[in-house]
Amino acid sequence: MIAPTAFCAAGAGEWQIETIRSILGPTLPAAGFLKITDGDAGKNEQSNLWTLRGTAGHARYVTRSETNQLLERQEALGRKGATCAALIPIRKSETWWTLAQDERRSIMEEKSRHFGIGMDYLPAVARKLYHSRDLGEPFDFLTWFEFSPDSASAFEELLGRLRATEEWQYVEREVEIRLTRTMIPQSTADR
Ligand code: HEM
Repeated sequence: MIAPTAFCAAGAGEWQIETIRSILGPTLPAAGFLKITDGDAGKNEQSNLWTLRGTAGHARYVTRSETNQLLERQEALGRKGATCAALIPIRKSETWWTLAQDERRSIMEEKSRHFGIGMDYLPAVARKLYHSRDLGEPFDFLTWFEFSPDSASAFEELLGRLRATEEWQYVEREVEIRLTRTMIPQSTADR
């Protein structure tokens, strides 16, 4: 079993929270820092303002050829110059979850080109996807991105393009948390 990862709003942490804003639905309470820890440890810390958990499991929709393209182009988290990050928790509607796997894939890729659009921003943006729905969390996904200040405007463009797609019509809650790194990264390979 893959252990969950916890994103904890705390009094100190590797990432300083710059802004928290709702894109759709209720926001999350303001906080100073974000700490990323092992899920069970994070959940038990009473001092955290809020904690969101997710597991970085296997991919559900990508084809072999898309997987190969991702492996060729994507960069790892924890790059030295990547001092900007975004944590974007997302919940999709019940309508989305009643669709079959092939229907969801068709909306994500054939109609919305999620993967195709995303590839335009690699390797500048490094990403990681965590699944939360099966943990009974308030969001279905926790999406995490790291990039350098030079790529900040490209990241805005990416968000605009994805939010204009058919796939995003199924998003019913989305919160955008912007962060900057407070210290030199250690290896994040185990996240
Ligand atoms: C950096 C460029 C991006 C690339 C290359 C990319 C690529 C992907 C891929 C390949 C998947 C499917 C994984 C699977 O097969 O299960 C995925 C899922 C997802 N991505 Fe992105 N993505 C990018 C940016 C974003 C952004 C900016 C957001 C949020 C604003 C986002 C939100 C999501 C969500 C919520 C899912 C899960 C969708 C679902 O399973 O219903 N992605 N992404």
